[in-house]
Amino acid sequence: MESYYQSNDHQFELFQGDAIECLNNMSTQFDMIFADPPYFLSRGYSLKINGEWKSFEKGEWDRVTSLNNINDFNRRWLSACRNVLKNDGTIWVSGTYHNIFSVATCLVELGFKVLNIIVWQKSDAKPTLSRSYFNFTTEYLVWARKSEKIPHYFNCEMMEQINGGVRMGDVWRIPFVASWEMKQGKHPTQKPLRLLYRIIISSTREGELILDPFAGSCTTGIAANLLGRRFVGIDQSKKFLDYAIKRKHEIEDENVANAMFKKMAENPEEVMVIVNHARSVLYRKMIEMGICYFRAGDSKGSLLVTPGFERLQYVLLHTNGENAQLFKLKTKGHFQIWTQETLQQYGFNPRNANYYVVFHFDASKPIEIKKHVNLHEHKNTFRSKIRPLSDFMGIK
Ligand SMILES: C[S@@+](CC[C@H](N)C(=O)[O-])C[C@H]1O[C@@H](n2cnc3c(N)ncnc32)[C@H](O)[C@@H]1O
Repeated sequence: MESYYQSNDHQFELFQGDAIECLNNMSTQFDMIFADPPYFLSRGYSLKINGEWKSFEKGEWDRVTSLNNINDFNRRWLSACRNVLKNDGTIWVSGTYHNIFSVATCLVELGFKVLNIIVWQKSDAKPTLSRSYFNFTTEYLVWARKSEKIPHYFNCEMMEQINGGVRMGDVWRIPFVASWEMKQGKHPTQKPLRLLYRIIISSTREGELILDPFAGSCTTGIAANLLGRRFVGIDQSKKFLDYAIKRKHEIEDENVANAMFKKMAENPEEVMVIVNHARSVLYRKMIEMGICYFRAGDSKGSLLVTPGFERLQYVLLHTNGENAQLFKLKTKGHFQIWTQETLQQYGFNPRNANYYVVFHFDASKPIEIKKHVNLHEHKNTFRSKIRPLSDFMGIK
């Protein structure tokens, strides 16, 4: 079978055509499959809701058919996917109530073992037009492995780290697609990179091969390549695949790729780290006491609390960019304002200010930093800052 597109780095290959036909002609075995199939939402006409005409049309490929047709289609493409999935591989399928029950039933009938049903809650969902039911804010992801008996890969530790040290649950609050991911065009049902990022880092290792049989604009492929995974995508539409190729070209620019990686990893819900420089004597004393402090505000005594402060869960101490050590705060997002005198009572010797922001952390359990970060910046090395935890974890 001839590919529609193969990138120069051989990490991104596309096939144009019907998913089932293409899959039946493939001999490659994949480590993981992500599928965002038709949800069957499009009715071919507009609905009048609260006096406003609204079209839910996604395309001919998404046209509502009978329940039997939907079940038959789901069984056929899932069966074709099963043939190209490694025995220890996993499959993710997205959907809404329109298709997801059929998908889950077919998966079980075909011999897959369902691992989780993830609820993706769109943290920035717009109000549903109709006032006849609750607001729609969620989609579902069924995650299943090929075999009942053969173990699958799950990076539980990484998920725990990006979730502030506690086991990640099955409700994910992630915002909808943002403008920075649509600079090359727009797909009517494009998925956010942040969603694919979490799926990929949780269930694959670097260098592995991922398939998306309903690839569209290839959000899966873009996230996969940014994370050092290889990608194969199928879509019936040349228009969507050409948009995907533009997206791949976009990340061939290293600066764009780095910026996009950062945005993709920076989940607005992510836990944050307060990064604090301390002179070496003070650094040792802070670790001994499990207390980190810095001056509150400017000379006029104001305290500027920036967004993300409420998600603070770690403190990173360093001395002029060296000896970085990461610790968990005793209470999430919790800080106190202490006077100079209070700090003195704890054996510190603060100077130059009356008030200090104080954090209490668990010094008995330093957390391993997995990524080398240059803290010795040209400017402002000594100023405390808030950074996402992913900056210090080797996410790949
Ligand atoms: C829900 S969209 C996927 C969007 C994609 N996740 C993204 O982020 O851009 C489903 C895609 O499946 C394609 N499609 C639908 N039926 C297909 C079929 N039988 N074979 C191949 N592609 C199909 C459509 O063209 C559409 O782009």
